[in-house]
Amino acid sequence: MSRPLPITGEQVGAALDKAVEQVRLNLPKYTKKCQNHSSVKGIYPTCKNDEWTCGFWPGEIWLAYERTHDGAFREAGLTLVDSFDRRIRRKVKVAHHDMGFLYTPACVAAYKLTGDQKAREAAILAADQLISRFQPKGEFIQAWGRMGSPINYRFIIDCLLNLPLLYWASQETGDGKYAGIAKRHTATCMANSFRPDGSTFHTFYMKKDGSPGHGRTCQGYQDDSFWARGQAWGVYGSILSYRYTKDPAALDTFKRALAFYLTRLPEDLVPCWDMLFQPDSGEPRDSSSAAIVACGLLEAVRILPREETGEYERLAREMVGSLAANYAVETPVEGTGLILHGTYSKKSPYNTCFPEGVDECTSWGDFYYMEALTRLAEDWDPYW
Ligand code: GLY
Repeated sequence: MSRPLPITGEQVGAALDKAVEQVRLNLPKYTKKCQNHSSVKGIYPTCKNDEWTCGFWPGEIWLAYERTHDGAFREAGLTLVDSFDRRIRRKVKVAHHDMGFLYTPACVAAYKLTGDQKAREAAILAADQLISRFQPKGEFIQAWGRMGSPINYRFIIDCLLNLPLLYWASQETGDGKYAGIAKRHTATCMANSFRPDGSTFHTFYMKKDGSPGHGRTCQGYQDDSFWARGQAWGVYGSILSYRYTKDPAALDTFKRALAFYLTRLPEDLVPCWDMLFQPDSGEPRDSSSAAIVACGLLEAVRILPREETGEYERLAREMVGSLAANYAVETPVEGTGLILHGTYSKKSPYNTCFPEGVDECTSWGDFYYMEALTRLAEDWDPYW
């Protein structure tokens, strides 16, 4: 397999329109119920609105609405806002940090695009829930589990994508407390999650006195390996942090994390699920990582001076070109996603995850693929 060609403007339009039609085909199945995190033999099961991933499908609906201005997407997106409003008010499975993954694409997007007040209020309640997990000792947002419990006194690299919800909440309410916590968490994360070579720990424990503990993996192969999606969250999350804070350390972190990611890519620019492996190992890919990194590159192109972005747009076009040419679902039927060969959680002898969604579509892979296409198609105002 040779290095992919950069996707052209015409190919972007065609791929985005194809994605929109898949979303349209799936609307009846996932409007009253949610779409689960990963497909099973290529078809997404439905689920209750109780997973950390339920926001990505509504995010795809809002991207489809932006592309078409078709009222059917708006109506479905607002039906899902009702569900997210109920979830946060009844506190259904919200005792974790993934409020941004849930409420940014489902409710901040809805509010930005329609002015819907229920969406705004639900997203602010979600931001309140997220800051309730801040641990002043150590200055981090605790990812999972009972607050303060020793086995869960840690944060994870993924959380960088939850923080735009907090910056948005501060802008929206005029109350700086949300952004203040986002900045303190980011400083802790940048100091500890990123290793000197630019690779990342998935999770990082703090000691009870607030001093740094140690890195551990949950979904990567082993503690000192290179879980691809964690690296991707680090790339996209650090450039988003830079947009909000203008802290040069965040920009430096983005560059280092990206540089490491690029050194471990196979020729078609879609990594194996852990970048310890190359494709000849037979280990599955994680296509979602490529989509996430492409969005990070395109965010950098959007916010940095042109002379600083060098090859970023070309790289993003190559990554998205690779996904569109070799990973996109070819035959649309109800329930399939947009891109194949994602990996949610693969069990290894050394990690602690529950194995599921290996070599399947993933809801965030689909969302970020569509976001990357939208960024390439137009001057997009990010939900994040
Ligand atoms: N945030 C969890 C994951 O990326 O699988």
